[in-house]
This record gives sequence, structure tokens and C-alpha cells, in this order.
Amino acid sequence: MLTTADADGRPAGGPTGDDGLRLDGIGVRFGGLVALQDVSARVPPASVVGVIGPNGAGKTTLFNVVCGFVKPIAGTIGWDGRPLRPRPHRLASLGIARTLQGVGLFEGLTVLENVMVGAGRTARPNNAFALFGLPPSDRAERRLRAAALARLDRLGVVRYADSLPATLPHVMQKRVALARALAGEPRLLLLDEPAGGLSRTEVEELAEVIRDLPTSSGTGCAIMLVEHHMDLVMAVCHEIVVLDFGRVIARGTPDQVRGDPAVTEAYLGAEPDEVSEAAAG
Ligand SMILES: Nc1ncnc2c1ncn2[C@@H]1O[C@H](COP(=O)(O)OP(=O)(O)OP(=O)(O)O)[C@@H](O)[C@H]1O
Ligand SMILES: [Mg+2]
Repeated sequence: MLTTADADGRPAGGPTGDDGLRLDGIGVRFGGLVALQDVSARVPPASVVGVIGPNGAGKTTLFNVVCGFVKPIAGTIGWDGRPLRPRPHRLASLGIARTLQGVGLFEGLTVLENVMVGAGRTARPNNAFALFGLPPSDRAERRLRAAALARLDRLGVVRYADSLPATLPHVMQKRVALARALAGEPRLLLLDEPAGGLSRTEVEELAEVIRDLPTSSGTGCAIMLVEHHMDLVMAVCHEIVVLDFGRVIARGTPDQVRGDPAVTEAYLGAEPDEVSEAAAG
């Protein structure tokens, strides 16, 4: 089990009272299949909210609703206190970024170029730089490049900057994907199975990174985390929402969720101690 960051057993950071992301009564159907029904969740700034549940529970679908890839038939989405009608191409300008289940890097671009693409939203030329006589494209690109290298450095993968993603170990590809999502300085980050395929040690290292994100970003980044690795979820989340067959069957702090019989039952009827193994398997 990973350890939590402070004395009361909850990670550092936590809700600040601002609005962040609100999902109310979300419903999604795929033909005859009810993928989500009456799902509500709140992800305040500077908090990490976990979305867990067995395979097919609707976790990725919920992310897809926030990103505008899937249109709900019911419910409302709010962002920063305003109604949100998500459109995939507008997400970056709203300060929303996601990593994909899997890795999802551009294979034809180097690691550095992948992260520079992710920084597109914040990469506008700054008029003040004109005073120093550099052409706008050079100035903008240099800033972008320096910021991307710094981001890669912080995640321990700067040595791969000029490599193609496919040549990197899986764990390093996942870090690059995270660096790319962070490059746009998002205020809401959706992480879909960031620990997929990682070893126990690698998961522990990732927990440190995620736990620091809400405060290290300086913007009170809100994080919604879908993950099967229960140790990671329990270590980094302030709140957890548990889905099963598209419905919320439990929610609360890691300790509340861990002890909830409905959660145990959803995970293959396992004993509470076995939930972690069943979910990670
Ligand atoms: N585009 C789609 N068209 C039809 N059915 C879909 C589509 N996307 C998801 N589903 C179905 O909706 C349900 C929820 O799928 P979803 O991918 O959200 O689950 P998940 O909780 O992310 O599962 P996993 O843990 O395996 O990633 C599943 O029954 C899935 O087969
Ligand atoms: Mg999924």
C-alpha cells in the first residue's frame, strides 16, 4: 500500500471552495446499452477525484462526456461555475487536458515535439519580446521548446527529448504523455489509466507525481483520475466515485470507499482486502 501525504491520511492539496468541474445527472446510451445513468460528480480545484469501477462500468465514457466526444442524453456539465457544452477542439482553450487509456503519442514526432504540440494553447508570441529583435516565430518556438524541455525534465524524461516515442520503454512513454497533457498548463486534467502496464515501483513513483500536481502547477489544477490500480487511487485521491454498470454505487474518501460493501461486491464479490488485487488484475 502506498502512503498518503499527511497526518490525517489524505493527500496534500484538496478542495479550495471554488467551482471546478460539476457533473449532474449525466446519462449516456449507446443504442440499447445504458452506459451512464444519473451520474453526478464534482472535481474542485486543487483536488484529485478518482473514478473507479470494474471493466465496462462507464469510466472512459464519463471522460468522453467531459471532453465532448460523447453527447449525454441527460444531465448538465458545469465548469468554473458556468454551463459547459464541451467540444473536443475547444478543450485546450478552456484549460482542460486529458491523457488517453493507452499512450496516444504522435509516433511521427519526437518526444520534444509531442510536448511542444501539447503546449499550443499557452504558446502565443509575446509582444514584449519584439523589443529584443528576434523574429516572432523564433521567439515563440524557443520559449515553447524551453518550456517543453523543463516539463520533460520535471518528469524525468528529458534525456529522450530527441527520440521517437516508440523507442522508449512503456513507463517513459506514459510520462511523456503526461508531460504533453501538462504542457498546456491545464486547470482540469483527466487521467485515464495513467498506471496501465506499470510495475509496482513505477506506480509508486507516479503517485508522487500525481500527488504533487494540484499544488505544483500553481493554478490549483483539478484532476479526475480513472485507474484500476487501487493502491494508486487510495494514495492520491481526495474523493472517489465508484461506478458499476453506469451507476454511482458509492462515493467518499478512500477509507469510506474501501470499507463499502457495495464496492467489494462490485469487484467480483471479493473480501475487502482482496479488492486491490481484483481491481489491479
Ligand atoms: N462508442 C461506443 N459505442 C458503443 N458502446 C460503447 C462505446 N463506448 C463504450 N461503450 C460501452 O459502454 C460501456 C462502458 O464503457 P467504458 O469504456 O466507458 O468502460 P470503462 O469503465 O472505461 O471500462 P475499462 O475499465 O475496461 O476501460 C461498455 O459496455 C462499453 O462496451
Ligand atoms: Mg476505460
